[in-house]
Amino acid sequence: MLNKSLTEKAEIFAKDFFSSDTTGHDWFHTDRVRNQAVAIAEEEGASIEKCEIAALLHDIADAKFHESEKAGKEYLKNWLAHQKMSSEEINDILLIISTVSFKGGNNTSPATLEAEIVHDADRLDAIGAIGIARCFMFAGNKNHDMHRPGRASRENMSIEEYRDDNSSAVDHFYEKLLKLKGLMLTASGKKRAELRHNRLVNFLDDFYSEWEGHS
Ligand code: ADP
Ligand code: NI
Repeated sequence: MLNKSLTEKAEIFAKDFFSSDTTGHDWFHTDRVRNQAVAIAEEEGASIEKCEIAALLHDIADAKFHESEKAGKEYLKNWLAHQKMSSEEINDILLIISTVSFKGGNNTSPATLEAEIVHDADRLDAIGAIGIARCFMFAGNKNHDMHRPGRASRENMSIEEYRDDNSSAVDHFYEKLLKLKGLMLTASGKKRAELRHNRLVNFLDDFYSEWEGHS
């Protein structure tokens, strides 16, 4: 059975794994997604344990931290195989994680309420004040501009098409961040996203205003 010690072990595993990350997927991202997932699970009446463990492990198998997508999955599966869990419990956790990421999920819809919750919790961390901070950190890390005025609006681009190695931080709002509200799957996720989306919109208003020299 899934128990407290497994949650603790997953936390230790994730903390250790992300201790040296600078790509915006540091331990604190995982910790925020965990807290968000637990809060949404409470509101939605879902399994808190499953959401918490899957949230803690959700980015560990991501291909960008391994030689390949396959290697990432094997790494996570290997860890799970060494825990005291039934194969059914392992599959439940893997099912949640495999549907969370854009790439990892291959656009498959989350199959369980818990998968929907961890999906929403992860997306929520890309919007609102934290999402803005992560966006500008990412851009700085890649040497991207913070804003390139006059670029053609890319609001109509689909989320899969958004990746552009030269996007400015502000471009990224139109490519991805402003679209995340519409991709929430749970009622609680939608409500939380609404608030955070408004913070993005207000930030852009202020940003453009100051950019133009207004107070
Ligand atoms: P994921 O979508 O799996 O969380 P990403 O690596 O795409 O992973 O994003 C990590 C963080 O960096 C997110 O907050 C995201 O919005 C931000 N980010 C990703 N691509 C860009 C970009 N081109 N410009 C600015 N921020 C970005
Ligand atoms: Ni994540």
